[in-house]
Amino acid sequence: MEDLMLKSTIKVAQLEELTTTEQALIHSAIEATSNSYAVYSHFHVGAAVHLANGENVIGCNQENVSFGAGICAERSAIFAAGAQYPDTPIEMIAIAARKADGQLQELPISPCGICRQVMIEVETRFHRPIQILLFGTKEIYVINGIKDLMPLSFTDF
Ligand code: THU
Repeated sequence: MEDLMLKSTIKVAQLEELTTTEQALIHSAIEATSNSYAVYSHFHVGAAVHLANGENVIGCNQENVSFGAGICAERSAIFAAGAQYPDTPIEMIAIAARKADGQLQELPISPCGICRQVMIEVETRFHRPIQILLFGTKEIYVINGIKDLMPLSFTDF
């Protein structure tokens, strides 16, 4: 047997190192945390996607007493974009989160497995990677495509 080594690259950045488009998308994700409906977890997540037509679309987590019925911020934003601009590729997604005390996360949070699977579908559908910006007040993670977050993913059969 031999080991199969899988490599992921994540850049660590500060806000001022990013482009104005990237910074604006992060600000939209931060603002979207205020729209979150998180009465159960009190963890408010915001996401914003930047489309190839220049539009930004936001989303945020929406919880439900039947826990499985809720949705994460990332899918909320991606599905909203798909509903409004069905044929427009997503170029970037920014994600931010606010804790129960109202403070923004110091370190970035990372999308759950289901959201990663949804991002892979969008990348595959439009044949282009989605840049991912994970915001934290201390540092920002910049990831060139979802494959760096989900190696050996299931894309087709
Ligand atoms: N959540 C997101 O919206 N995105 C993530 O990347 C992780 C978790 C939400 C789901 C739930 O409403 C709350 O955060 C706590 O898990």
